[in-house]
Amino acid sequence: MKTFPDGFLWGAAASAPQTEGSALVDGKSLTTWDKWFEMNPEKFDKQVGPKDTSNVYRQYAEDVQLMEDMKLNSYRTSISWARLLPDGKTLNQKAVDFYRNYFLSMIEKNVEPIINLFHFDMPWWLMEKGGWETRESVEAFGYYAKVAFEQFGDLVHRWTTFNEPIVHVECGYLFEFHYPAVVDFKRAVQVGYHTLMAHVEAVKQFRKGQHTGEIGIILNLTPVYGKSDAPEDLKAKEAADALNVKSFLDPVVLGHFPAELIQLVKENDLLPASEAGDKERIARATVDFLGVNYYQPKRVQAVSHPTVPAKMPNDLYGEYDWPEKKINPYRGWEIYPEALYDIAMRLKNEYGNIPWYVSENGMGVAEEERFMNDEGIIQDDYRIEFVHDHLTELHKAIEEGSNCFGYHMWTFADCWSWLNGYRNRYGFYRVDIENDFKRTPKKSSFWMKSVIQQNTID
Ligand code: BG6
Repeated sequence: MKTFPDGFLWGAAASAPQTEGSALVDGKSLTTWDKWFEMNPEKFDKQVGPKDTSNVYRQYAEDVQLMEDMKLNSYRTSISWARLLPDGKTLNQKAVDFYRNYFLSMIEKNVEPIINLFHFDMPWWLMEKGGWETRESVEAFGYYAKVAFEQFGDLVHRWTTFNEPIVHVECGYLFEFHYPAVVDFKRAVQVGYHTLMAHVEAVKQFRKGQHTGEIGIILNLTPVYGKSDAPEDLKAKEAADALNVKSFLDPVVLGHFPAELIQLVKENDLLPASEAGDKERIARATVDFLGVNYYQPKRVQAVSHPTVPAKMPNDLYGEYDWPEKKINPYRGWEIYPEALYDIAMRLKNEYGNIPWYVSENGMGVAEEERFMNDEGIIQDDYRIEFVHDHLTELHKAIEEGSNCFGYHMWTFADCWSWLNGYRNRYGFYRVDIENDFKRTPKKSSFWMKSVIQQNTID
């Protein structure tokens, strides 16, 4: 039996745009997702867009009751910037009321709300000015963060600024999965830089307002493994690590960029525009804790014929297809629980053993209704095995001193997955999108409840 520390956070994670629905009501303005769906609905799986995602705006009380039933003691979601401040300046009282009621209902059921400010949902008014490409976004985000802290600071004690900031950089400016779906390495780096400065501005506002509680950020610390220890493979690994892991991890925890990243952007003519004083601002804005999302590792090898200077990340490192990998065929992601141990030990050994928690981990599976039994309960043993194996690795790292204080599953109730719509399901609860968003527990929810009650896995 493996027992977790007292007070360990057990919970689940989600985001405003993927769960709230009611995207066009009660004063919320449009985001890039609302607009992109309006322009190109064919890009979205089965043409299911962001307008009516899992209906949490109306059904939150039911969900919170189900969280209590499952004995979750914490839950992370985000605030929609476009709902709280539809034009970036004017406070939407209906949004304030919704979020206050939502967070209060969690607190009443002993579920701690951990609240994130940005989960890929850029307001359209700001996108029209260039989104994260314009420096104006930094100040705009700082103002939004300040308002959020003032409106909800009495209810929320663990804040995070961004979810996986590297993802909107690469998906929006390299790989075409997010709006504006352009392919431009230099613009991507600028977007990443302004995102970091927006995070810095939010941390500044949090400290200035003397809010109680703690502030952090959620990073997908995708661990990088090289094909071999040959110097060319090691060089590729270092570049992948600098771009994908250290780019945000080093400035937010250590207060500065890693030397290898600075060299890489200089060598490849990718230096972003910055302002005097940024270096000191970054140094002053280190976080109290980290959330770490982990789904799959990154395996890389040397590139045989790179373009110099690099036009894309794959001029710096090539993907390596490890022949022994175990794969989740629905999402196409490798399943490798050992990486969670490696992340945990790296945070301990190289990042001052900063307090952290697993803020997302999970398994998306298509057509889960195939596994429904006669009582209508999906027998998701694959998910139970997935969580069990990851918790085993996590427990080992905690025993060895890594400062991990919780584990959150992606996600609580099936939610909308961006361009993938509702194809892959991740929840402890099934959501029937054709039948009033009805929630039904899956087998994994009962298994997880017993893990939580015993604070232990076999
Ligand atoms: C995480 C994101 O990277 O992965 C979530 O924070 C996302 O927003 C989740 O939904 C699962 O990925 P996907 O693409 O299958 O939805």
